[in-house]
Amino acid sequence: MKHLLNPLDFTVTELDALLKLANAIEAAPEKYAHACEGKKLATCFYEPSTRTRLSFEAAMLNLGGSVIGFASGDNSSAAKGESVSDTIRVISCYADICAIRHPKEGAALVASSRSSIPVINAGDGGHQHPTQTLTDLLTIYSLKGHFDHLKIGLCGDLKFGRTVHSLIDALIRYEGVEFILISPEELRVPGYIREDVLDANQISYKEVERLEEALPELDLLYMTRVQKERFFNEEDYIRMKDFYILDKAKMELAPKDMLVLHPLPRVNEISVEVDDDPRAVYFKQAQYGVYVRMALILTLLNIHID
Ligand code: CP
Repeated sequence: MKHLLNPLDFTVTELDALLKLANAIEAAPEKYAHACEGKKLATCFYEPSTRTRLSFEAAMLNLGGSVIGFASGDNSSAAKGESVSDTIRVISCYADICAIRHPKEGAALVASSRSSIPVINAGDGGHQHPTQTLTDLLTIYSLKGHFDHLKIGLCGDLKFGRTVHSLIDALIRYEGVEFILISPEELRVPGYIREDVLDANQISYKEVERLEEALPELDLLYMTRVQKERFFNEEDYIRMKDFYILDKAKMELAPKDMLVLHPLPRVNEISVEVDDDPRAVYFKQAQYGVYVRMALILTLLNIHID
């Protein structure tokens, strides 16, 4: 039985197969409409979500399966003090596969150790968000056609932004990928990612504070919001929250074929006037999230069509 806890749980070859399956689903969704008949997905979300939970649920419904779950810890027996370990043992009796989001880092790993069904990490604290990474990879693969030799700008809250941590882990496996890490000093990517991931794998990267400096060089700009829920005090959040605002004037500095991705939700970091720019693909990215989660459910349940 396979779980997805970390983007590195899939080899590059397995990832390639998953992305190709997602593209096949996008091209002919009707072929997969009954693939999960009789199967149930449990979505156990202890933290708020719009895209991840609803795209998982849409994915399972598109595959002909059913969905059970809860959208907040307060609506589950976690509010009475039940542990994640006990909850997953019970969920294993009710469902065939489970997607879990939790504010504590490592919660999905704990769940997987007690589960008799595949567990998908739908975000654990500031740690990892592997299915967002699958979404990001499918977006890049579908719209750029490759990962090799891309220069990628990661901008915003690189300290608490778990989507950034997962994306770096996944992309360093491709040849010639370079990063420009764009953040204020206080929100730099954590030291363990610089040292254990980037330096240890001799990945080319630089850290800058000004978005304008990086924009002309980029193939992709990955914007992120400042993660209000991970700050210890409101004052620091208020000081940081509007540090970057991508607007039409800044987009003039970017190459004509640069893509703008964002895991969403957006707060102020991308002005709505950018939404009509053909390079802004963040809503398309949210749609890719459904196809890739359909492919993931089929893969983890070992269901093959054809
Ligand atoms: N991108 C993402 O994880 O969005 P939600 O928090 O709405 O699920």
